[in-house]
Amino acid sequence: MNSYFYRSPLVYELELHNLVFKSWIYAAHITELPNPGDFVLLEVGEESLIIVRDRNNEIHALINICRHRGARVCEKLKGHSKTFVCPYHGWTYSLDGTLRSARHMEMRKDFNRADFPLKRAKVLVHMGLIFVNLDEQAADLSGPLSKIDVQLGAYDLKNAKVAHKQIYKVDANWKYCLENYLECYHCKTAHPHYARIHTLADLDEDAKDFDAAMRARASVETGVAGIEKEYRKIYSAAEAFGACVQATRYGLYDGYLTGSEDGQAVGPLMGKMKGYDGGASDFQFGPLTFMLSYPDHCVLYRFIPRGQNKTDMEVVWFVNGDAVEGENYEINRLTWLWDQTTLEDKYIISRNSEGASSDFFEPGPLHPEFEQTLMMFIDWYLDVMQSVIK
Ligand code: FES
Ligand SMILES: [Fe+2]
Repeated sequence: MNSYFYRSPLVYELELHNLVFKSWIYAAHITELPNPGDFVLLEVGEESLIIVRDRNNEIHALINICRHRGARVCEKLKGHSKTFVCPYHGWTYSLDGTLRSARHMEMRKDFNRADFPLKRAKVLVHMGLIFVNLDEQAADLSGPLSKIDVQLGAYDLKNAKVAHKQIYKVDANWKYCLENYLECYHCKTAHPHYARIHTLADLDEDAKDFDAAMRARASVETGVAGIEKEYRKIYSAAEAFGACVQATRYGLYDGYLTGSEDGQAVGPLMGKMKGYDGGASDFQFGPLTFMLSYPDHCVLYRFIPRGQNKTDMEVVWFVNGDAVEGENYEINRLTWLWDQTTLEDKYIISRNSEGASSDFFEPGPLHPEFEQTLMMFIDWYLDVMQSVIK
């Protein structure tokens, strides 16, 4: 795309409000909020959301802005609290966002506390994954997600555990980061370790027999009938705006049971998995969240704009909920491949961002196969922007 779309502050504002804030985004895993009062913050653009479990065990996504004069009411990135007390003038909110007290405001006869709850985003908890959408009118995501119940259910994420998560801060527009994830044309050149393991780094023609053999044995070897079934409705083909869903499965080369440095398992099998089939499932949830799932661990990827040239790339490593660190898995072995790969991506994205921001940059031709998903994103993005600008 023309560098204007990455450089214009106006474009950035428009895409936040018309695209990012209308899309389903992964917020957290249910085990991060085990008890009433537990919360984590999710920061998207300039917005801040409090993802919190209330006394009735309901999960809310509260907009972190006081209804008095707009101060942040929650300042910690995660924690436990009985209420949220605004540090400015002390208005106090319950865990479900209702305004409990507003000092001395009874002097205003027209003041009614019930009129000023914290605003909220839509929330969906699906198989232990908490998703949010800042658009109150957003279409449901659970219907589209139900289409991949078998493939996603195999990993039993509800009973999984977050072994590690890390935000990689990248000084580049969020679209450079996302576009990089959407194509594997760069895998052979930028990711030597990844490319040695995953067939996605090769052309379909070269990998098709290998992948077909994996798919033919996947149901039997994993014990999950239908795990190899492909479902793909993303970007313009999504069932509803911002509700992309994908499940595909591709092969891991001989000698690799999983995505690890030596190819050996880095944890116990996940969920319903009964064995290693030499494959990995590739999921997409909404336009910005992805998850590569090996039989023994899942690696979730999320791209969040935090400024025109600032992006949070968050990576979350899930393991079987019964796995014990030090006994069943080691963080370094578990995270080795995707930490390495993400650092490689961070480097090439920043090189791309610098170069493609030049006045001399003219977008070149894209590869019809390797960069096909990237083209789907660009088509969708430009459609959205066109409908907003005209
Ligand atoms: S801004 Fe929160 S109490 Fe005044
Ligand atoms: Fe990459």
